[in-house]
Amino acid sequence: MNVLVAKNALDAERIAYTIIKERLAGKNAFVLGLATGSTPVGMYKMFKQDALDCRHVTSVNLDEYIGLGADHPQSYHHFMKERLFDEVPFKEHFLPQGDAPDAEKEAERYEQLVRSLGVDLQLLGIGENGHIAFNEPGTALDAKTHVTELTASTREANRRFFNELSDVPTHAITMGLDTIMNAREIVLVATGTRKAEAVHHMIEREPTVEWPATILQAHPSVTIVLDVEAASRCDDARQARGREAADRFFSIRTNA
Ligand code: F6R
Repeated sequence: MNVLVAKNALDAERIAYTIIKERLAGKNAFVLGLATGSTPVGMYKMFKQDALDCRHVTSVNLDEYIGLGADHPQSYHHFMKERLFDEVPFKEHFLPQGDAPDAEKEAERYEQLVRSLGVDLQLLGIGENGHIAFNEPGTALDAKTHVTELTASTREANRRFFNELSDVPTHAITMGLDTIMNAREIVLVATGTRKAEAVHHMIEREPTVEWPATILQAHPSVTIVLDVEAASRCDDARQARGREAADRFFSIRTNA
């Protein structure tokens, strides 16, 4: 695990964007795993400002709410179209179909699709409870793409995108932990103090299903990009901050 701590959220986003940009450069074909939520929004702006050439890139998103069709304003299909795809042409893009008549079958189909494409780089955010994609605490480590019930805390955290808490879907189709671990490379971005506890578990504590992101310690090629707030509960970050505060970012020691 390579952990970089930037001075602020914008610098963290720049670092993660630069890694993605470098990986896409000079490739004829690339499969990029994408996320939704607040974390990647700044990076997707950078894709647009830079007019990053993604015509050779196939994207696969992590998840979609069950019950929301692609045109629903709060669906992840719609989010991706608005934030990225409308302005940056990709070769192809895929998300699970939230309004499929049989969500379990759709999860199986999506798993096969992701496996057959093979993800070169997966971009991730992290939930306050340590979820990655919608793999909530307690999810089996070998989970494939599946239907999941969202926890009360995740629905509460995502409520800001909806009018009412009752409008937030209760279930989603999500890539599983095993699906995510199959990506060749992973870049996870976390910013803000709300994420500090989950980040501390992810990088400094023993792997446990109670904090799903701890599984990333076992992946051979992971970069975690944080701002100082998200790193604020990490023991080594507190020490390193004093030592190297003048740099744009610094690395910290981890469990893995
Ligand atoms: C989104 C996703 C989630 C988010 C996480 C953090 O596709 O899979 O795991 O990455 O909930 O959300 P934000 O970025 O809104 O804090």
